[in-house]
Amino acid sequence: MSPELSLAKAYEKYFKIGAAVAFHNIDSYYPVLEKHFSSITPENEMKYSSIQPKEGVFTFDKIDRIFEVARKLGIKVRAHAPVWHNQTGKWMYQDGDKPASPELIYERIDAHSKAVCERFNKDVYAWDVVNEAARDEVFDVNTGGSPVYRESDYFKLCGEGFIEAAFKSMAKYSPDAQLFYNDYNECDPAKRERIVTLIRTLQDKGCRIDGFGMQQHYFFEPDYDELKRSIETYAALGLRLHITELDISLMATLNPGEKRLKPEDEGFKQYIQQALHPTPEKLAKIGDIYVKLFEVYRSYSDVIDSVTTWGVADDYTWLDFFGADPNMPKVKQYPLLFDENHEPKPCVVRLIEDAEAGR
Ligand code: GLA
Repeated sequence: MSPELSLAKAYEKYFKIGAAVAFHNIDSYYPVLEKHFSSITPENEMKYSSIQPKEGVFTFDKIDRIFEVARKLGIKVRAHAPVWHNQTGKWMYQDGDKPASPELIYERIDAHSKAVCERFNKDVYAWDVVNEAARDEVFDVNTGGSPVYRESDYFKLCGEGFIEAAFKSMAKYSPDAQLFYNDYNECDPAKRERIVTLIRTLQDKGCRIDGFGMQQHYFFEPDYDELKRSIETYAALGLRLHITELDISLMATLNPGEKRLKPEDEGFKQYIQQALHPTPEKLAKIGDIYVKLFEVYRSYSDVIDSVTTWGVADDYTWLDFFGADPNMPKVKQYPLLFDENHEPKPCVVRLIEDAEAGR
């Protein structure tokens, strides 16, 4: 690839190009970030459990380092600091040995929001305020729960009020940056309806919500029509859109349709063999999917402002750890745009050419 080519430069007229980075890898990725990216997102370092592991005990050293590098790079941060059912200390939900009241939880969210905004606002262009609060599975009257919301600890203690509280606090402390709700499986029609209801409810309550973050983790070949329908549906709510956690697992090239093969399924052995020894065609297919996805994103650049991959290069990805399919032996999944040596994969050249040709 010619040395002057840059993904971020080629996409300047469309949207920002971002990557999730971690405290332990940001320095090794510095040259790639400098050349190809115009946004970064801290992978874990802004989550509640990282910043406030115990009530009132704030730990900023790792996240401060990421912001220091962002400033050196001259790029603003897409902050992923959400109220979320994961990676949050148990203290959030307790009041001594009793469950915490909604009011206490809202006070805690408010104090946390104030602390992160005061420290980081000047380098942040968008905040994920709440993550994954929509119900995942299809509602079943027999199992009960809410047809719209996830039965998280937050929801059990506060009902949907915690989402409103989080947005209200962030609007108060971060008047200038954009505020996002972020979720996954966002192109699944049933989940999409739940997300739309969640967002409309917030809007009806007068909350400022500027955007929706479409995570875009792919374990299956994307349904491009459903993707377009989803972009249009979310944009019709009056929101800006960010692609926030894009990656394409090798499994997307192996899974038949929208089903993850399990050990008891026919063809599982062969599937594992294919995953353990991916052919050059399967690896190239990941690139083809990126090319097609970016074609869709570019065609909606009037509503999409930022596209972030969940990681920078294949040497470090969550899919090698807790994102791995529990039914599988450990397989490398090659989900990102840069290879294990931080070199751009062939599809990066195609993405740049397509952008420059205005295709
Ligand atoms: C979710 C979260 C992210 C991250 C990824 C997997 O999508 O939003 O913060 O934890 O899972 O790494």
